[in-house]
Amino acid sequence: MPVENEQSVIPASDPFALFDAWFAEAKQSEPNDPNAMALATATPEGAPSVRMVLLKGHGPGGFVFYTNALSRKGGEIHANMQAALLFHWKSLRRQIRIEGPLTQVTDAEADAYFHSRGRSSQIASAASDQSRPLPHRADYFERVATLEERYPEGTEIPRPQEWTGFRLTPLAIEFWIDRPARMHDRRRFTRSGEGEAWSDTLLFP
Ligand SMILES: Cc1cc2nc3c(=O)[nH]c(=O)nc-3n(C[C@H](O)[C@H](O)[C@H](O)COP(=O)(O)O)c2cc1C
Repeated sequence: MPVENEQSVIPASDPFALFDAWFAEAKQSEPNDPNAMALATATPEGAPSVRMVLLKGHGPGGFVFYTNALSRKGGEIHANMQAALLFHWKSLRRQIRIEGPLTQVTDAEADAYFHSRGRSSQIASAASDQSRPLPHRADYFERVATLEERYPEGTEIPRPQEWTGFRLTPLAIEFWIDRPARMHDRRRFTRSGEGEAWSDTLLFP
């Protein structure tokens, strides 16, 4: 076994700084959406569900994504304000798992992000009853056309109240990196609450 494989290549440093470093590399190497992450939620009965969303802000305060609060995920979040996030950057053969409680972003934050998007994205999301049955795809296009007429270029498209964001405050962040012979390298950081010190340990792969 080569000597370099005997030591972890994941430093026991600040996990937010480590996230930043890996994310910066992913932005260079991923063909698209390096900020795409799987978001796992669960019903109060413990039935899980998972889907992709985009990371739209992050830092020591947490990891932020935007969505429709009346969607399937929104209902699960409303009933159980906890979630897990997963990044898998295939080109780097790396994975990051993040777990913790959720809080809704402020209206001001949601407004600012909503209005930073292109007009067509704002209209597409305002016209969507996300996750509810759609009898015909043409019905959605009709709604989009109605909103385009109601809000011509130069007017502000109001953010629907249910279109909002959530911030996951991590209590656990785990880094995984592919190593030769499937002797992969994992380091898990945990803390008991926001602002508390992180502990870390290597894990068997
Ligand atoms: C790469 C990718 C990024 C996505 N980003 C978002 C997002 O940021 N917000 C969102 O609501 N849905 C996003 N979606 C769509 C979701 O995966 C999902 O279809 C939708 O949110 C409905 O999920 P739900 O029925 O579990 O609520 C994305 C899908 C993909 C494949």
